[in-house]
Amino acid sequence: MGIEIIDVAVPERWDDDSEGARLLRTYVDVRNDVTAHEWGGDSSHAYSYQEAWSQWRGDAVDIETIRTLALVDGEPAGRGFAERGLREAQTIAGIDAMVLPEHRRMGVARALVDDLLARMRARGATTFQAWVDHHPAPGPQLSPPTGFGEIPAESPQVRLLQAYGFVLEQIERMSVLHVGTTHAALAEHIADAQRHAAGYRLETWAGASPSNRLDALARLQARMSTDAPAAGLDHEEETWDAARLQRYEQGQLEGGRTMLRAIAIDEATDAAVAFTTLVSAGTPHIWYQHDTLVHADHRGHRLGMLVKAANLLALHEQDREALVRTWNAEENRPMLRVNEALGFTAVCSEGAWQRKDAP
Ligand SMILES: CC(C)(COP(=O)(O)OP(=O)(O)OC[C@H]1O[C@@H](n2cnc3c(N)ncnc32)[C@H](O)[C@@H]1OP(=O)(O)O)[C@@H](O)C(=O)NCCC(=O)NCCS
Repeated sequence: MGIEIIDVAVPERWDDDSEGARLLRTYVDVRNDVTAHEWGGDSSHAYSYQEAWSQWRGDAVDIETIRTLALVDGEPAGRGFAERGLREAQTIAGIDAMVLPEHRRMGVARALVDDLLARMRARGATTFQAWVDHHPAPGPQLSPPTGFGEIPAESPQVRLLQAYGFVLEQIERMSVLHVGTTHAALAEHIADAQRHAAGYRLETWAGASPSNRLDALARLQARMSTDAPAAGLDHEEETWDAARLQRYEQGQLEGGRTMLRAIAIDEATDAAVAFTTLVSAGTPHIWYQHDTLVHADHRGHRLGMLVKAANLLALHEQDREALVRTWNAEENRPMLRVNEALGFTAVCSEGAWQRKDAP
């Protein structure tokens, strides 16, 4: 049995007969098949070729990526992904390996991970991070140094990461909300938050952000990298400007996704001081909660609840059957308090793992 690793570049198009387009489609198929298998056959976690293609193109200026396919006797068996910031955190690389069920325990993940680590090291990466959804299972559990959350200690993913010297640093809770079940309470949440938020007003929109809000949104977006709890994970402040924000939005929208934003504006300065973002997926009725942040100078006025409840209300108008998925650090009490009040319920735990090369 021979394992061959080949690169998957960003093709000019995703839907023609070119070799590049064919490789993109194979890569996405492998990713979607493994993900459905891990979710017990649930294919609603899939993304489409067009979504992938658009996001790959949108990211290319700000993030360096490596995408690979592992072929066993010429047939696709797994796929590898690594990324590294080009504007910040250039020594930190995220990595991810997925192997089709019928090709497991044959060294395919090792071949993928060895290749990703070596190539990211050659580019200067010394810290490696991995995020993995771990589904609940009986038996011994593993907790990170934060003391918040746990995952089953004996899954293949845990074994693989530990074999490479990765350490579990943090747990994120994945939770879901059917917007239909919370709709009746949303107006009340908004009214209650507004009683604590005198001097602030809401703005919501669908699609690309209006140009007069881009600079303030970019400044808030940058603070996600410093203000969200990162536990023991290495991180650096990200540099965002209006152009980078537009590239991110374009990458989402050109893939066929819908984006809903809600922001809170400080009426004294007309500046955006809080924001939240919901993005649809290729699968009907599946939505992902992207970033939410209240500027540190404006916390304690229920602006987090205000923007989140307003965006969910806007979502209900778009799609009454929407299901929202979100990931939050288990120690992030302020954000979890808002989500729990809105009705989000926990589904599984995502482990954040890190390995640092010896200096
Ligand atoms: C985790 C995963 C990538 C492993 O793929 P794989 O090709 O079977 O892994 P390999 O054969 O290369 O094994 C590499 C090491 O992982 C560990 N491992 C993998 N599967 C294991 C299992 N079922 N039981 C125990 N150890 C296991 C072992 O340490 C193994 O080394 P060894 O064979 O020398 O003992 C695969 O199960 C998968 O795709 N899971 C779903 C996707 C996912 O969660 N990916 C994130 C991983 S970071």
